[in-house]
Amino acid sequence: MEVFEVGLIGGPAERWYRKARPEVEAMPWGTLPMADFAPDVVARARRVWTMAAFQEYRTGAACTRALQHLFACGAPVDLIALCSRFPLDEVVHVELAARLLQELGGAVELRFDPERLGPEPSPDRDPLMRAAELMMRVFCVGEAVSIPILRASWQHAELPLIRDVLARIVKDEAVHGEVGAWFFGWCIDAFDGDERAHLRAVAHDEVGKLVRSWERFRPSARPEREVDLHGEAFGLTTGDSGAGRLGWMPESIYFSTAHAALESAVLQPLAALGLDPREHASIPEHP
Ligand SMILES: [Fe+2]
Ligand SMILES: [Fe+2]
Repeated sequence: MEVFEVGLIGGPAERWYRKARPEVEAMPWGTLPMADFAPDVVARARRVWTMAAFQEYRTGAACTRALQHLFACGAPVDLIALCSRFPLDEVVHVELAARLLQELGGAVELRFDPERLGPEPSPDRDPLMRAAELMMRVFCVGEAVSIPILRASWQHAELPLIRDVLARIVKDEAVHGEVGAWFFGWCIDAFDGDERAHLRAVAHDEVGKLVRSWERFRPSARPEREVDLHGEAFGLTTGDSGAGRLGWMPESIYFSTAHAALESAVLQPLAALGLDPREHASIPEHP
């Protein structure tokens, strides 16, 4: 396990990056009213944003892996071109979260397994199916579900810096949530009945991981230690602690938003493609 840390090399590389994405420097850094927040609230916000930075980092790695398989399967170059922007978007989001952490007093220690940064496709499948498995997991499920959740987080945010950071992420992510459906629109006819059943099973597996992760965040379903370790992983706050102003959104809104997002942004588009994971098996955790 490695400690999660990010840094810059500076010089020409940083100048190129700043020119490509000037919005990072343009944020209202230094405007958080830190004196308004109790130390325990700041400590929780540091955990929230450390997890957020890592999620963005992991998503960047997952997008990159999916992109590699788009090349391998001979996907249309306009689709590849679009997807080649996504790793850069995710790196910008990593930096936004990291700079927010600097303002909050620094990241908390987070360890990760570098060998397991993103999903692996089935080794025995052909290149198109391998790409399809990754596009399903990363974009049709993971990225698609996050868009309505992020949008709600942004609408809930009050402080200018938090609002601007979330607004940037929401703006970049909009297309990340749609590209999975475009990919399948291109290649769905190439899959026979067994292959479509396999894709529904892959979607079911990924959706299952997602809803089980949400269930673990419910206060009633987790021991105190879990609250500490995972409770704020997606910016959940349990009430009027003030952390909501530094994190994302209150728990009371989070769960209904997340399940509505699963329905509208994941299950309905997959059903329209004939890849509804509920045809594979029911999703008991999703009402
Ligand atoms: Fe992102
Ligand atoms: Fe994304």
